[in-house]
Amino acid sequence: MTQENNGTLSFDDFDEKINPRPEDNDFDRIVETAISRRGLLGGVLAFGSVTALGGILAPTGAKASTSRFAFEQIPTSTADTVVVPEGYKVDVMMRWGDPMWSDAPEFDDATRGTAASQARAFGDNTDGMDVFSHDGHTLLVVNNEYTNRNIIALSADEDRRIQDKDDIAKGMMAHGISVVEITNEDGTWKMVQDSPYNRRITPMTDMDLTGPAAGHDLLKTDADPSGTKSLGTWNNCGNGVTPWGTYLTCEENFNGYFSAPENPDHEVSAELKRYGISSEDWGYNWALIEDRFDVAKHPNEPNRAGYVVEIDPTDPTSTPKKRTALGRFKHENAEAVVNNDGRVVVYMGDDERGEFVYRYVSNGVYAPGASTDDLLEDGVLYVAVFDDDGTGKWMALTPETTSMDQAEIHVHTRQAASAVGATTMDRPEWISANPNAAEVFCCLTNNKNRGVKPNAGGDDTAVNGPNPREANNYGQIVRWRPEGGDHTADGFAWDLYVLAGNPTVHDDAYAGSDNVNADNMFNSPDGLAFDSNGLVWIQTDGNYKNEGDFAGQGNNQMLAGDPVTGEIRRFMVGPNECEITGLTWSPDRRTMFVGIQHPGERGNSHWPAGGTSVPRSAIIAVTREDGGLVG
Ligand code: FEO
Ligand code: CA
Ligand code: CA
Repeated sequence: MTQENNGTLSFDDFDEKINPRPEDNDFDRIVETAISRRGLLGGVLAFGSVTALGGILAPTGAKASTSRFAFEQIPTSTADTVVVPEGYKVDVMMRWGDPMWSDAPEFDDATRGTAASQARAFGDNTDGMDVFSHDGHTLLVVNNEYTNRNIIALSADEDRRIQDKDDIAKGMMAHGISVVEITNEDGTWKMVQDSPYNRRITPMTDMDLTGPAAGHDLLKTDADPSGTKSLGTWNNCGNGVTPWGTYLTCEENFNGYFSAPENPDHEVSAELKRYGISSEDWGYNWALIEDRFDVAKHPNEPNRAGYVVEIDPTDPTSTPKKRTALGRFKHENAEAVVNNDGRVVVYMGDDERGEFVYRYVSNGVYAPGASTDDLLEDGVLYVAVFDDDGTGKWMALTPETTSMDQAEIHVHTRQAASAVGATTMDRPEWISANPNAAEVFCCLTNNKNRGVKPNAGGDDTAVNGPNPREANNYGQIVRWRPEGGDHTADGFAWDLYVLAGNPTVHDDAYAGSDNVNADNMFNSPDGLAFDSNGLVWIQTDGNYKNEGDFAGQGNNQMLAGDPVTGEIRRFMVGPNECEITGLTWSPDRRTMFVGIQHPGERGNSHWPAGGTSVPRSAIIAVTREDGGLVG
């Protein structure tokens, strides 16, 4: 989800416009008085846990003979193309609107399709994805997070609001998940049209609600008096995979689709406000064709979104399950780890300014071949408290700790986390666990409100250990190591892997940490994934204006980091006005699939086809020219 893609306002800015948060004069400090870069590091180092952590910041990346990178860093770019290092090759594999069945029409630049054609084609705004091998078939499961209304709908007005009902329905069908069989023919990956595995999951697909909140009054609606069935999923951002081979899709900015077209002055409850729901949507106007999106008429409907949804990609007739045990918030991704004792741990971020990092721990253990039905239903949800001394603890969200009933904790999860004093974070995006060490990385993308105003729940957002800069436009990556290497332990140690910044503009904390320099700088880390070799890949969704604070940083990009030395190298730069998001590999690790989302969101790209073509989100396949491994 980009920062500035909905008309002239970002999604967060839109939420703030409709639900203004009080200014907090206590925090009314001036950004540029920030401590010097050295001063900041000295301050953090003084907390005293450095010895145990080996330094609060990753050591300077030394380009020593021990480098594990198989490529030379590339410079920034502002070209309308994908740039990769010498020795690598990029193929565009699958684009928004490509038909998944042969009876559907090819994408039409002139019309950008119809609701009917979009329902049988690859969705828009490719995001989290994973590859599954099944019975000799290779299945790619991809989130289609949202749609670019100004591009998909010729009827969109200058504020990118859609009124035409077929265009509204087309936009709706561009959302959800695409399950697509892919095959490699003569070295080129392509979609298998008409595969029996191909499936579009959309805001109109039947889903089950499971876990502690299922059946609760808060989930009951006119259409579903049982509170156990919901219709569809949307704004699916990052993802995860379970040890048993299912796909987890994460409902992020689900709020911006609800409105009250017949009651524009309708006031929603405080509980809904915390999630950014109001009588005004972002311009999709779904309430005009689907009554359930009218929040004045159906105030419980938003309680049925904001979950992690489990999908069996091998069975196109299966019913996706919304797993309320994993909490309700603006889910970025879901990183599942099997702990040493067999319990399943899922790490999750809530991507909003000043919201939190969560952990779920199953009560049961995973055993291959045994039933996995309860593993994402029966467990404990925790939220993270990061102390300034480099340690932290997981706070269980229970009726005892929150004074809320169990179901309510799993519907109003943000309020539960606030009640136990969770640490406000700079927009937690993707979380990824190192396959070679008991450590977990989390992108904190940016937070202009840090130290400026509280979060939507009124929680203090003064600078704190892992979020050390006021008005943070650059972002950072925090890393934690569970006590004793046990992902279910209550305690952990943390440090910052990198503080992004711009050392050509700043000479204080906003220059970034020592492993950031003029050659590898970036802003707004978002996507994050370890490869099988233990390198961590970092994708950005940041400011691409290439001026001011962001001068010299170019288009959004993907970098690789060595978690041991701290070295970070730029591997890829995307076309104009895109974000890079979604990363997975072919089963033989010789192809890396990368998502290029919303090229030309402001009207300045014709990627991938060039000329005067309509810009289209797409998945690219990156290979080595020598056929070697790419992760
Ligand atoms: Fe969909 Fe937080 O990115
Ligand atoms: Ca983002
Ligand atoms: Ca993201």
